[in-house]
Amino acid sequence: MDISTTYLGLKLDSPIIAGSSGLTGSLEKIEAFARNGAGAVVLKSIFEEEIYFEQEDIIKEAEADGVNLDQFDYYDFHLKGQKLDRYIDLVAGAKKAVTIPVIASINCVYSHEWTAFANQLEKAGADALELNMFFLPSDFERSAREQEAAYFETVEKILAAVSIPVALKISYYFSSLGPMIQRLSRTGVAGLVLFNRFFSPDIDIDALKVKPSFVFSTPAELAISLRWIAIMAQKVDCDLAASTGVHDGAALIKQLLAGARAVQTVSSLYKNGPAHIATMIEDLKSWMQRQGFASLNDFRGRMSQEASSNPAVYERVQFMRYFGGEKDVT
Ligand SMILES: Cc1cc2nc3c(=O)[nH]c(=O)nc-3n(C[C@H](O)[C@H](O)[C@H](O)COP(=O)(O)O)c2cc1C
Repeated sequence: MDISTTYLGLKLDSPIIAGSSGLTGSLEKIEAFARNGAGAVVLKSIFEEEIYFEQEDIIKEAEADGVNLDQFDYYDFHLKGQKLDRYIDLVAGAKKAVTIPVIASINCVYSHEWTAFANQLEKAGADALELNMFFLPSDFERSAREQEAAYFETVEKILAAVSIPVALKISYYFSSLGPMIQRLSRTGVAGLVLFNRFFSPDIDIDALKVKPSFVFSTPAELAISLRWIAIMAQKVDCDLAASTGVHDGAALIKQLLAGARAVQTVSSLYKNGPAHIATMIEDLKSWMQRQGFASLNDFRGRMSQEASSNPAVYERVQFMRYFGGEKDVT
């Protein structure tokens, strides 16, 4: 049975990608994911701010030591941060440790000079880059148009800087999500990851404090990405990877039926360990056998909005009551 797929022009032996997280910052874990059948791995993100702040520290130290900073080429200096070096080591180490594609991930907050370090990640051997882009729409100084423009500027710069495929991991916080996803898919990116999930605060009602919580997704969170993969599958000019809420084989199958080329999973790996990938693959294979499918192409996108016999269901948002019968849809 063939469960291989292509994603970002890369051949993946399975459609399960170990998504970007602390787990994929460890070579040992990366090896375990590969051993258990992951088709690819997205390394934890290197954070632009980390590099930026580190650079500020270096500048302060250098100034205190009386170093004349003018002698440094700005970019060179900027990129000498240890964090970037460590990240480059991670990329190179992962490439040596496993044969599956290794996707480096950059967290881009604003499009400054970081295209230069994207270039270094390419040189370190990354098979592709995933840009983790998110501006929380609580910036009251920026209009929706300005927010959106930042995505296009960033993508344009990065595409000019590297020759490896680039994927964009986005959230669903856009004023007009469908058209935005479509426009982004036409920028030349090789893939879109729908969607990133963010850390959210919780409130401790006894201590009256805000506390970190909801670190991991729940299986119910699959619904949002499932809907949008299904709606967008035939409306984009790049690959789609589903992310958020993929916790088991059934969720993987649903995303493939909706039209995803691959899924990313993170919370399920934190909760169940690397062997969970093998379990999901087993579940996929036995389902394919029961259904008589020999490859993913036999069923991928079969339940997308355009292929579905009931396309309206993906756009239904209100709970409806059917009169004249017992059929309450609640
Ligand atoms: C502990 C933790 C760390 C994460 N770190 C990153 C990261 O560095 N970069 C990134 O793009 N996403 C990161 N994510 C988000 C995941 O890649 C993923 O998009 C999200 O968890 C939803 O997928 P899931 O439902 O399978 O967990 C992280 C998630 C968790 C739980």
